[in-house]
Amino acid sequence: MKIIIKSNDNLKTGENNFPNFPIEVVTEGTTLIIVPKLEAYVEKTWEYAPSKAPVFYNPTMELNRDIAVLALQTYQRTADKEISVCEPLTGCGIRGIRFAREVNGVQKIVVNDINLKAAKLAKLNAERNKLAERVLVMNEDANLLLSRYAAPRKRYDYIDVDPFGSPAPYLDSAVRALRHGGLLALTATDLAPLCGVHPKACVRKYGGRPLRTGYCHELAVRLLVGCLTMTAAKHEKGVETMFSHSTDHYIRTYAVVHRGAKQSDKSVLKMGYILHCFACFHREVSKGIFPPWKRECTECGSKLNVAGPLWLGKIFDKEFCALMAEEVAGRNLGREKRILKLLSLVRKEADAPVTYYAMDKICDKLNLRIPPLTKTMDELRGAGFQAVPTHFNSRGIRTDASAKTVKEIITRLAA
Ligand SMILES: C[S@@+](CC[C@H](N)C(=O)[O-])C[C@H]1O[C@@H](n2cnc3c(N)ncnc32)[C@H](O)[C@@H]1O
Ligand SMILES: [Zn+2]
Repeated sequence: MKIIIKSNDNLKTGENNFPNFPIEVVTEGTTLIIVPKLEAYVEKTWEYAPSKAPVFYNPTMELNRDIAVLALQTYQRTADKEISVCEPLTGCGIRGIRFAREVNGVQKIVVNDINLKAAKLAKLNAERNKLAERVLVMNEDANLLLSRYAAPRKRYDYIDVDPFGSPAPYLDSAVRALRHGGLLALTATDLAPLCGVHPKACVRKYGGRPLRTGYCHELAVRLLVGCLTMTAAKHEKGVETMFSHSTDHYIRTYAVVHRGAKQSDKSVLKMGYILHCFACFHREVSKGIFPPWKRECTECGSKLNVAGPLWLGKIFDKEFCALMAEEVAGRNLGREKRILKLLSLVRKEADAPVTYYAMDKICDKLNLRIPPLTKTMDELRGAGFQAVPTHFNSRGIRTDASAKTVKEIITRLAA
């Protein structure tokens, strides 16, 4: 039986004075979108307006969406073909509609939300942008929608999972609905579990243990990619991370998913653990899916703490980031400068060692003032080590020097 999927009948927008709640029109990139008027939904200044409104819209995620436009265009240009896109948790439709308007080579887009009002607003936004032909709006559970597209020739080239909290509940169906060589984008806003404030929740959702280290945001990305890797492995698929970033209250990763048991095995080999000493800042990696036996710090003899299993492979692709930066000009992106700075930092750290030293954490512990970052990096390089900044932390340094050497240099500079 052939299943024909069409936009749900209950999404008619021209009746009942829809939208019958306070709205306004905003511009992101070159797209105009109707969104709920957030100030109408908060009584106290500290209330979180996006989740109080009848349809979700978060203006602070503009940078997240801007970067998604750049990543999708870069992916499309590299693939050099017309692509299909799915945004299964769309809110007011702003992300998917921006893809349709601002990214060349996007043939069709399906946007979906389980909230009827959200789906209706997304449909209205698609119509107002004259995209009704190319943007199909659905109103159902994201996993149901993705599962329907899991069959050969129905799959998508790009899926963007941007949920409340964790993307983990959608990983299986997203991986299944992604075409061979397709790009999967994931947002995770549940940083309390991923950064080790609620470790049990992290184990539950991501199958790995977090640690509250100075580089916990990098661990968060590695736990997310690790979870994706093991999910993809179940479906005999492998993962190649093209770009990741940690910004404001969320982390984000973009990974190409390849079909095949060999690809999958290759990815699983990049899983492992990071061992960390809270007494002296020493850290080391332990490769392989099985937990390491070693639990004693080689530098000071204290107990080593273990994060993982997580992804130890690359979390950025230098070439992909360079192409993303080339896409920035002429797009009217709200945070152009910030994006260019982020892309430049990521290119610098793309091939540098796993984990970074957070200078403020070290100086706090040693009771020292924080020396200038550039000076510390110069000293490290002068001593023959690699030293680069990181976008994860403006006071972070990636280096192959040991914790002992880093502390010696900081102490000297702070004297
Ligand atoms: C963080 S918001 C999406 C924001 C949007 N991606 C953007 O860029 O503005 C998450 C959305 O997922 C929707 N949602 C929650 N659970 C869902 C489910 N199981 N299936 C489909 N949509 C769901 C919510 O109604 C909400 O609109
Ligand atoms: Zn130690």
